[in-house]
Amino acid sequence: MPRDLFSILSESEAAAALQDMAREIARHDVLYHQKDVPEISDAAYDALLQKYRDLRARFPHLKPADDPEERVGAPLASGFAKVAHDLPMLSLANAFTETDVTEFVARIRRFLNWPDESPLSFMAEPKIDGLSCSLRYEKGALVGAATRGDGRMGENITANVCTMADIPTQLNAPFPDRLDIRGEIYINRADFIGLNRAREIEGELPFANPRNAAAGSVRQLDPTISAKRPLRFFAYALGACSEAMPESQHALRAQIAAWGFRLNEPARLCMNPDDLLDFYHFMGSQRHSLPFDIDGVVYKVNDRVAQERLGFVSRSPRWAIAHKFEAEQAETRLTAIGIQVGRTGALTPVAELEPVTVGGVVVSRATLHNEDEIARKDIRVGDFVRIQRAGDVIPQIIGVIDAQSPTRGDPFVFPTHCPDCGSLALREEGMAVRRCTGGLICPAQAVERLRHFVSRLAFNIEGLGEERVRELWQDNLVRSPVDLFDLQRHAAALQKREGWGEKSVTKLLAAIEGRRVIALDRFIYALGIPQIGEATAKLLARHYGTCGTWRTAMHAADNPESPARRELESIDQIGPLIARDLIGFFQEAHNTDILDALEQRVTIQPYEKPTVESTSPLTGKTIVFTGTLTGMSRAEAKAKAESLGAKVAASVSPKTDYLVAGADAGSKADKARILGVEVLDEAAWLGILES
Ligand code: IVH
Repeated sequence: MPRDLFSILSESEAAAALQDMAREIARHDVLYHQKDVPEISDAAYDALLQKYRDLRARFPHLKPADDPEERVGAPLASGFAKVAHDLPMLSLANAFTETDVTEFVARIRRFLNWPDESPLSFMAEPKIDGLSCSLRYEKGALVGAATRGDGRMGENITANVCTMADIPTQLNAPFPDRLDIRGEIYINRADFIGLNRAREIEGELPFANPRNAAAGSVRQLDPTISAKRPLRFFAYALGACSEAMPESQHALRAQIAAWGFRLNEPARLCMNPDDLLDFYHFMGSQRHSLPFDIDGVVYKVNDRVAQERLGFVSRSPRWAIAHKFEAEQAETRLTAIGIQVGRTGALTPVAELEPVTVGGVVVSRATLHNEDEIARKDIRVGDFVRIQRAGDVIPQIIGVIDAQSPTRGDPFVFPTHCPDCGSLALREEGMAVRRCTGGLICPAQAVERLRHFVSRLAFNIEGLGEERVRELWQDNLVRSPVDLFDLQRHAAALQKREGWGEKSVTKLLAAIEGRRVIALDRFIYALGIPQIGEATAKLLARHYGTCGTWRTAMHAADNPESPARRELESIDQIGPLIARDLIGFFQEAHNTDILDALEQRVTIQPYEKPTVESTSPLTGKTIVFTGTLTGMSRAEAKAKAESLGAKVAASVSPKTDYLVAGADAGSKADKARILGVEVLDEAAWLGILES
């Protein structure tokens, strides 16, 4: 959706668009962080996030519950024990242009009230494309290692990293009693090529790029496999530490090296935006001669006290930014356009390409998004196209190279019928996607629905890939999710099938048995109701509590005048569009029949409320700032208050708990006194912060 369209969106359309985008971002987060198989380029991901931010800025009150800005990475995959990070592992905001960089510096000076004439230095470092890891040392000995996970909880990968040569099991003295070292696990480009060659000989799928190879190698449940992979580690930051930290990033790097780690080099101390940009261009020119992939550079405020004052905005520090390189491009021939059919019947075109190397990775497919995209770029089979990738698996087509050539083929005609079941494929007014109308008879949709049902965030049943589900569906063994829970009846027949075998059938049946108890939110998500992603499923589960209550309410909401409809639409983040899809699902008898049958076969656990988080003296208070504070900028004060759980309001009202009045406070202070709102001067405010 182009940015200017936002201005004509109604509230309910904006809410639906925000939900859609949040869901899409969450899906890409899972693909990238958890499954190591991203579908879109980093640039396309960043663009999506930016669009989301723009829209959210216009409709802040419509922020979805699962706001991507408040989440780092992705929910955890199962298989590894979980470990809590003492300090959250954050992500970095991105800069793409020179203006982004100068604004980053200006923003920091403003936030800190740092005059232009006072020097402010930065460390500029390469940004390695790998996966971040936190190492815990106690009395100098390595005692644990964790992935970033969702930022708060990571996966315990101690066994997988302790064989890595770059990770010392004992630090060089002196060292603090307890400390967390943070850095990036990665694979050199040459090692990556060797690893893939070996995989191909073994008949395994090659990794798409060094980042995925590193992530896939670390997250092996069998640590002896990780041990054989050429994994390396750079350290660049500290997490929790039992002693005072070095006074600057520069000193920290020296300390990290003294403890026995390798650093990400070359790094440079910079004094102004010009220095930073100079480093950026220098690294850009060196990029291809470095032994490892970098996707940009990172700028960090050097002074630790300044870093602490700057703090964090939701998922990234204010004191650092990643300046990304432009995506890498290449040219190749488009040999065919394939059409994939999704769970909801959406037809998605995919470009088949003559294999070409882009930034060290062989690319043979690219996403084409939808039929308008093909028409807009006038992409035809046989064309030479320019493609772009930025650390991704499925790259994008930027455009056709020789669009004027007289020997070009005919314009691509998007199919009007489903390539799988032959049913009519229709486009609703104003929608970008064309959908197959085959519904229950379309094998592609049925297979995708079943795959959604068993996917990680739903029933999480392993051993049911596309091929197997299709076989089971075609042979009438599994036509709906219900049949999965009756599959043991066919155990003997299954074991006789080619390529299945006794062991794998036993494993699959055990995996299904192991999922007969499921949380309500996962259950709702598994149903694959249009627009009901993970976050919305959670909202519904939280609101209705049990499956029975939810089902009764959805039927009652059928009547637009009913209290049940009002209740549904009053749930924060659920608007009329989502309500329409939910109610529509329950109007279909075949859906409710499946629900009845599932309820007989699985136990759906009522929603459990998460435990309450710790509180501060400012938790839940409403604060208004006025006048000039001398110790910190307004932005810093506001950020502090919010980080302690307070709400910052613009004007004084009877609901205000505190008015913090700096020098030259005007009418707000008078109003507060009239309303009996407690007025704090700067010293009192600092007192609260210290308490
Ligand atoms: S500092 C609090 N420095 O990039 C900030 N991160 O896109 C912690 N990364 O999560 C990160 N090179 O995994 C930092 N020199 C570098 C880095 C770096 C790569 C990764 C890291 C981070 C991600 C953000």
